[in-house]
Amino acid sequence: MPLLEIKDMTVGYGRIEALHGISLSVESGELVTLIGANGAGKTTTMRAISGVRPLTRGSIMFDGQDITRMKAHLRVLAGIVQAPEGRGVFPGMTVQENLDMGHYARKFANKAEYQATLDHVFELFPRLKERRAQMGGTMSGGEQQMVAIGRALMARPRLLLLDEPSMGLAPMIIQQIFRIVSEINATGTTILLVEQNAQQALSRSDRAYILETGEVVKSGPGPELLADPAIKEAYLGVA
Ligand SMILES: Nc1ncnc2c1ncn2[C@@H]1O[C@H](COP(=O)(O)OP(=O)(O)OP(=O)(O)O)[C@@H](O)[C@H]1O
Ligand SMILES: [Mg+2]
Repeated sequence: MPLLEIKDMTVGYGRIEALHGISLSVESGELVTLIGANGAGKTTTMRAISGVRPLTRGSIMFDGQDITRMKAHLRVLAGIVQAPEGRGVFPGMTVQENLDMGHYARKFANKAEYQATLDHVFELFPRLKERRAQMGGTMSGGEQQMVAIGRALMARPRLLLLDEPSMGLAPMIIQQIFRIVSEINATGTTILLVEQNAQQALSRSDRAYILETGEVVKSGPGPELLADPAIKEAYLGVA
C-alpha cells in the first residue's frame, strides 16, 4: 500500500479548473518529483495534499486512511508536513523560534524527541546552529530556505512536501539544497518534491510525474525520464 495515493483528483479556483483528474502515488521511503511548466498545477497539487485547497472530485489516501476531506491541521498531526510556500520564515522570530514552531505544530510533548530532532536538523544545517539566535528575516535567501526546511523537519514528517526549494537561489546553494533533500530522504523521510530544476531533480528521484496543464502526461523512474528525448527537449533545454 502506498503512503500517499491520489486518485482522479480535480481541483479548481472558482470556475477555473487547475487539475483535471490526476492520479499519483508515493511509496513509503521514496523521493518523488513533480515536474511541469509554470501554471501546470504543481503548487495546486501540493495545496490539495496539505489540505489548504479542496478537491472537487477524486480522493486522497494517506497511510490507508481517506483524508480527502480532512482539515489541514489534522493532516499535519498525521505527518503530512509542507515546508512553507515561498519560504515563509517568520521574520521577527529567531531561527531557533522558527524551528520550534515546526515542532509545536505536531504537538509533541516528549523532550528527548525534541532534542533528537533538533540535533538532526542542526546536523543537516550547521549554519542554522551557528545562527540560531539570529532573526529569521535577516537570514539570506538560501539560509531562509534552510530554516523553512528545518522547520518542516522539526514536525517529524512522515511525508515532507517541498515546493521548489531551489527557487531564486544561486547555483551553489541549489546544489547544497538538493544534497540535503537527498540526505533527508536517505535518512528515512518520504518526500514529494516540486522542481523546475528538472536535471537535478530527476537524477535524484526514485520516480517522477510530468504535469502539463493540469494533467499527468508521463511518469516513471527519474533516471528513465531524464533520458527521454521528449522530456529532454521540453524540460532540460536540449533537443
Ligand atoms: N489562487 C488562485 N486563484 C485563481 N487561480 C489560481 C490560483 N492559484 C493558481 N491558480 C491557477 O491554477 C493553475 C495552476 O497553478 P499552480 O500554481 O498550481 O501552477 P504551478 O505548476 O505551481 O506553476 P509555477 O511553476 O509557476 O509555480 C494556473 O493556471 C494558475 O493561474
Ligand atoms: Mg508553483
